[in-house]
Amino acid sequence: MNGARGRALLTPRSAAGTLGAPWLPFPLMTDLAHASTEYAARLSIDVVDAGGVAGRMAEDVLAGLTAVPKQLPPKYFYDDAGSRLFEQITRLPEYYPSRAERELLEETADELMAELRPAEIVELGAGSSAKTRRLLSAPTAPEHLRRFVPLDVSREIVESSALGLLADFPYLSVHGVIGDFERHLHHVPQAIGRRLVLFLGGTIGNLHPPERTAFLASVRGLLGPGDRVLIGLDLVKDVATMEAAYNDSAGVTAEFNRNMLRFINRELGANFEPEAFAHRAFFNAEHSRIEMHLAPSVPQEVSAPDISLSVTISPSETIWTESSYKFTPESVAGMLADAGLRLERCYANDRPDRRFALALAAPA
Ligand SMILES: C[S@@+](CC[C@H](N)C(=O)[O-])C[C@H]1O[C@@H](n2cnc3c(N)ncnc32)[C@H](O)[C@@H]1O
Repeated sequence: MNGARGRALLTPRSAAGTLGAPWLPFPLMTDLAHASTEYAARLSIDVVDAGGVAGRMAEDVLAGLTAVPKQLPPKYFYDDAGSRLFEQITRLPEYYPSRAERELLEETADELMAELRPAEIVELGAGSSAKTRRLLSAPTAPEHLRRFVPLDVSREIVESSALGLLADFPYLSVHGVIGDFERHLHHVPQAIGRRLVLFLGGTIGNLHPPERTAFLASVRGLLGPGDRVLIGLDLVKDVATMEAAYNDSAGVTAEFNRNMLRFINRELGANFEPEAFAHRAFFNAEHSRIEMHLAPSVPQEVSAPDISLSVTISPSETIWTESSYKFTPESVAGMLADAGLRLERCYANDRPDRRFALALAAPA
């Protein structure tokens, strides 16, 4: 699987238990094979790495579990089950970032689309693209927008959302890319006209500062003169609100966190016992980030013979699975400038419990 490349129309697959779930934003499709035939002229999906994110998992897991502190990259949350759990998270009462960003898009989408008139939207870490629909629904969109390019590590969510978008936006073609936004931006197809790149959901906060600058510089490489990037950033707010968003009462975020261990068990033949790990999420004020960890209450002997891994995780340590940096409006321009981008405008949601920003940037 590792390293295999391909370009394919949708792979027909059973939709049982996925597309029919009531919280998913896309329509129920019981016959994906039929749907892909119907939309063949407007749809293509490039699979950059048929192993998906798992292509690099072996080396990342070996390095991360032998490091101090033990850590695993957040991209390994997102197998198909993880993507579905994330969609559930976006609907939780405590998880304000999705609502805050949706409100901002509600206020700005029509104006942005009328002003920028992009021929294509490229969305990195697109997930279900649920909020992106607000841009695609702008009154001017059918006049200028021709293509949507979602890039994500999770194949199922890109395929599912592509079908929903093709059904709902007849003027649009979709060119999906299944790949890693930190490694595969050169697989984004050649621009067909003015481009708007989206990086929503506060996903920028999952990157530590050095990787963030490198990533933004590679996003800069996707932009020509006249192109723009729109980035969703979660802003610092009161600690209780931020911590509640990652400690929901229904326990969905805890399941999402543990799901990473299931993904690793399946891909690498590891023997994690996910239920033996407690979910921990707290604000680290020094670094202005929420950290998520998995904490064992008794020592865990973990092995993965496929990759010659054998480690003990003691109750005095954790596995650090995610950081979610929180920004201030003042920090945004400098962060973009470091990557060759110029902040053009910053839309902010000022409700105290929803502080969130959309930064619109141009090549410097
Ligand atoms: C926080 S979710 C945001 C999803 C969506 N953009 C939103 O705003 O709701 C992060 C998304 O990025 C994807 N993702 C995470 N790491 C990635 C990586 N390194 N390369 C590509 N996609 C990644 C995940 O599969 C997931 O869909």
